[in-house]
Amino acid sequence: MTEPVAVKLSKSVPSGATAVAVPVFADRLNKVEGVRKAALDRARFGGKPGESLVLDDGQRARVLVGMGPFAEAGAVELRRAAAVFGRQIGRHRRAGFEYPVDLGLDAAEGVKAVTEGLLLGTYRFDAHRPKASEEPRTEAVTIAGEGLGRALQEAVERGRAVAGAVCFARDLVNEPGGTLTPTEFAQRAAERATEAGLQVEVLDEEAIAEARLGGLLAVNKGSAEPPRLVKLIYEPDAPTGEVALVGKGITFDSGGLSLKPADSMMEMKSDMAGAAAVIAAMCALPALGVTTRVVAFTPMTDNMVGGSAQRPGDVYTARNGKTVEVLNTDAEGRLILADALALAAEEEPDAIVDLATLTGACMIALGTKIAGLMGNDEEFVGRVERAAGAAGERVWHLPLPADYRAQLDSTIADLRNIATGRYGGTLTAGLFLGEFVPDGTPWAHLDIAGPAFSSDGDAETPKGGTGFGVRTLLELLTSWGEEGSDEEPAEEG
Ligand code: BES
Ligand code: MN
Ligand code: ZN
Repeated sequence: MTEPVAVKLSKSVPSGATAVAVPVFADRLNKVEGVRKAALDRARFGGKPGESLVLDDGQRARVLVGMGPFAEAGAVELRRAAAVFGRQIGRHRRAGFEYPVDLGLDAAEGVKAVTEGLLLGTYRFDAHRPKASEEPRTEAVTIAGEGLGRALQEAVERGRAVAGAVCFARDLVNEPGGTLTPTEFAQRAAERATEAGLQVEVLDEEAIAEARLGGLLAVNKGSAEPPRLVKLIYEPDAPTGEVALVGKGITFDSGGLSLKPADSMMEMKSDMAGAAAVIAAMCALPALGVTTRVVAFTPMTDNMVGGSAQRPGDVYTARNGKTVEVLNTDAEGRLILADALALAAEEEPDAIVDLATLTGACMIALGTKIAGLMGNDEEFVGRVERAAGAAGERVWHLPLPADYRAQLDSTIADLRNIATGRYGGTLTAGLFLGEFVPDGTPWAHLDIAGPAFSSDGDAETPKGGTGFGVRTLLELLTSWGEEGSDEEPAEEG
C-alpha cells in the first residue's frame, strides 16, 4: 500500500546512505572488512542465511547479512539477505547494498533477486493507519558494486515487477474480510488487471448461476454479500502453450453452520490468499514478457451463517455435473475450487495449477512455512517443484493415494465433501479436487494454508499476508516455453 522504495544501481554506495548491507559468507567470516572474526563469534554471527548483525558507528549502520557458504550462495540467498536487511532499515531514508560481485552468479539474476528482497523486506501495510505517512521510512536503496550499471536496469525492473506482484497479493490478504468483500475483491482485481493490459471478465451472481457454478452458489447461500468469479486472460502474440490458474477466494471463512471456534477464525480473512496470488501473478505477466497464454479463474465468496446457509447434509450439483453431499460446511474451499477447476479444464490448457488455503491438516503436516504440493502428473508436479525452488518458496510433494478416494464415497450423491476418517485431510481434499480435473490434463495443487499468512514474520515476510505462491507461479510461467519444449507442437518437416 505504502509507496515502495526506489531501487538504484551504482558503482558505490552513495554518501547519503546511513545504512549499508554487507553480505557475509559463513566460510569467509575472517574476510569481513573492519571486523575481526572473534568479534563476530562473540556476537554469535555465523553468516547463515537469515542472520544479521548491525554494526553502528553513529554515522552509518553496517548491517552484516548472512549468505551461508560461498559455494552454495545464489539468488535465493541474496533475496533473503536483502529482505532481512530491508526489514531492519525502516528508520533510514537512504540505504545501500554492497553487491558481492565475485559471486559466481549471472549479475542480472543476482540484481533481480536483491531488488525483490529489498522490496519484500521493506513492505508495510498501512491502509488502516492514517498517521503512517508521517513516520520515517526508507525511500531509496542503491545496489552497489563494480560493473553494476545501466545494463542491469532491466534486472531491477524485473525484480520490481515480481515483488510488486507479491506486495499486491499481500495487500489483498491483509485487507479485512469486512472491507474486502467479494465485490470489492473483484473490483480491485479487475482494476489492476485492466491497467496491466489483461482481458477481464467479472461474473456476478446472475452469471454465476447461469454458468451453473453450484459449489460457489452453495457456499454463498449463508452470506449477505453476493459472490463473484473473476476470469483473467493474458494473451501474448504467438503464444507458446497455455496454462490455466485457479485460486481459492474465500474472503472470510467462518466455517458456515459447521462453525469454527473463535480462535480459528482470527486469521480467516486470509482464506482468499490463493486467489490473491493468482490475480497478482497474472497482473505481472505483461511486464515480464511471458510468452505463454495464461487464463485464471478466481471464485470469490465469504462462508457465513445466514438463515439461508447450506446445511450439513445438503446436496448440490457442481459445474461438471457431479453431485456433492456437503457434510461439513467448513470444507468450503474445495466446493468453489471444484467449479473453477472444471471451468479451467474446459479451456483445454496444457496444464492447470491451483492455489488454496485449503486444509488445517496441511499445517499440521508441514508447519507454517511449507506448502503441500499434489497433482495427477509427476512430470508437471516436478516442474512446479523446481519453479518453487528457484523462487525461494518452500513446497513439499505429497501423494494423492487412489485407494483413499473411497473415503469420499457418499451414500446419496457422487461425492461427500469430507472424508469419513479424520486422518490425511490434505490428501483427501486434494483427491476431492482431482474429481473435477479430467484425465489427461496435467494438474498441480498447492495447499498454502500454512505459508499464506505469517503470524510471526520472518526473513522475507513481515507479519500478515505473505504473497506466497506468486513467485512460484511467475517462475513457472516465465520458463514455460523453454523447459516445456517437448510439450510444444511438433516441428515442421
Ligand atoms: N480455510 C480453511 C483451512 C485453513 C485452516 C486455512 C487454517 C488456514 C489456516 C478451510 O476452509 C477449512 O476450514 N478446512 C477444514 C476442512 C475440514 C472441515 C475437513 C479444516 O482444515 O479443518
Ligand atoms: Mn473452511
Ligand atoms: Zn476455508
